[in-house]
Amino acid sequence: MFILTEKPSVAHHFLTELRDVAVQRDPMRFRRNLERLGEILAYEVSKALIYSQVLVETPLGTSKSLQLQQSPVLATILRAGLPFHQGFLNVFDRAECAFVGAYRSAHHEGETFEIELNYLSSPDLTGKTLILIDPMLATGKSLEKSYRALLRFGIPDRTHVVAAIAAPEGLAYLRERMPECRLWLGAVDAQLDHNYYIVPGLGDAGDLAFGPKL
Ligand code: URA
Repeated sequence: MFILTEKPSVAHHFLTELRDVAVQRDPMRFRRNLERLGEILAYEVSKALIYSQVLVETPLGTSKSLQLQQSPVLATILRAGLPFHQGFLNVFDRAECAFVGAYRSAHHEGETFEIELNYLSSPDLTGKTLILIDPMLATGKSLEKSYRALLRFGIPDRTHVVAAIAAPEGLAYLRERMPECRLWLGAVDAQLDHNYYIVPGLGDAGDLAFGPKL
């Protein structure tokens, strides 16, 4: 498991702004900070991908270089995942993309909930590297359900799961249910609250990026 904020870097600054209620009043800055965090985490995941040696012609000679053997498939859960996903797409600019629409079924405060899927699109995943991108890893239920639904499109060679902020409960859930996946996290917070939101977290990432829903 990789945790970006274990070492000091500008990623802390982006996360601090993402959490700050004063800065959150600017949705464009919120989206852009999620995107910037996505770019940094994409770079970290890139260190685990496979590269081929190539010879590249420069105007002045030939350079021995490396290039990605295969672009990953970037999969995102709508709608909060979109700005984070864009950060990954900025780095893996030739990536194919998969999208999952997932929402929590109506539930009363403090009760458990199910995840309903209402949209799914994906390229063939057979033999590919899948990067599952979700800014908030809370219970892990929507990630697991999305992952299982995506496997209908083929079995990837390897899967990386990336979150900006994770709760220990969600991490334990994914470790048990998806042990084949490698985890990449911005930060790990204290716990979930009675509504399954991450504390301290940052609130509702979808609402902060795109406005409140009915
Ligand atoms: N989704 C969010 O946007 N925030 C949380 O804290 C948990 C899930």
